[in-house]
Amino acid sequence: MKVLCFGSLNIDYVYQVPRFVSAGETLAAGSLHRFSGGKGLNQSVALSRAGAEVFHAGAVGRDGGFLLEELQAAGVHTGCVEILEDVPTGHAIIQKTDSGENCILLYGGANRRITRAQIDRTLSRFGSGDALVLQNEINELPYLMERAKGLGMRVALNPSPMEDALLPLLPFTDYLLLNEVEAAQLLGSEGAPETMVAALRERLPGTTVLLTLGKHGSLFADAAQILRQTALPVQAVDTTAAGDTYTGFFLAGIFGGQNPAWAMEYASTAAAIAVTRPGAAPSIPSRDEVLAHMSESRPEACPL
Ligand code: RIB
Repeated sequence: MKVLCFGSLNIDYVYQVPRFVSAGETLAAGSLHRFSGGKGLNQSVALSRAGAEVFHAGAVGRDGGFLLEELQAAGVHTGCVEILEDVPTGHAIIQKTDSGENCILLYGGANRRITRAQIDRTLSRFGSGDALVLQNEINELPYLMERAKGLGMRVALNPSPMEDALLPLLPFTDYLLLNEVEAAQLLGSEGAPETMVAALRERLPGTTVLLTLGKHGSLFADAAQILRQTALPVQAVDTTAAGDTYTGFFLAGIFGGQNPAWAMEYASTAAAIAVTRPGAAPSIPSRDEVLAHMSESRPEACPL
């Protein structure tokens, strides 16, 4: 099966700060680094490093060539990425603290110039049995999702950033992968993770839900079961793309035929490794690294 990740490609500008800047304040950054990122690109890299055959679709400006090289180096097919002449590549301004926390400001750029013609061209290469992975950093998501469902593709959505415009799309997603903040926004109230997962399942009975809880692990819920996975204790350097790494490894496990408990362990091990390294896409580990780590701690884990 082929996995199409139709999503954002960003240039990440990461500023090291003593704390997040407040309204009206001027704060000096200790350093600036540029990385490849974007939730779409990060998830494509994670899916591919986790063992899936991945095609990335999206758009960059003339300044985004190194993002395509990052995807290609990870083994991702990039023939469905368009290079636009009149708009810059999307970018993210990321403040990162010493404890590895971040906050992100996005500029959409080329990510917001997806056309229905590009979607039609891209989807003509995919069909029933293939999967579509989406986030919320590009335009035309409703059209994209409707066309993919019409083709019989399985659809996974990471509703990030969360906004009300996504609500009508949720019943059509096969897999919904989100964090606690996004779950609270979606439900309109905060709650204990188990309560939120149950509420999401009640609202979306046809959807498998995966709730990530950072250092508190993750929860999975489908019609048959609710599972909890603990997170590995690590010293976080940079949490950027931890969720994207989890998403890519979890979905690669599921699409590769593994059971949910194994896919959760695979994903949480990958995310734990990613947060010990700087940057978004460059921090995502390889399948071999993750499997080696799993076999050290859990000898019974089996490869994809
Ligand atoms: O999830 C992390 C990503 O969010 C960053 O790489 C940034 O580009 C934003 O899209």
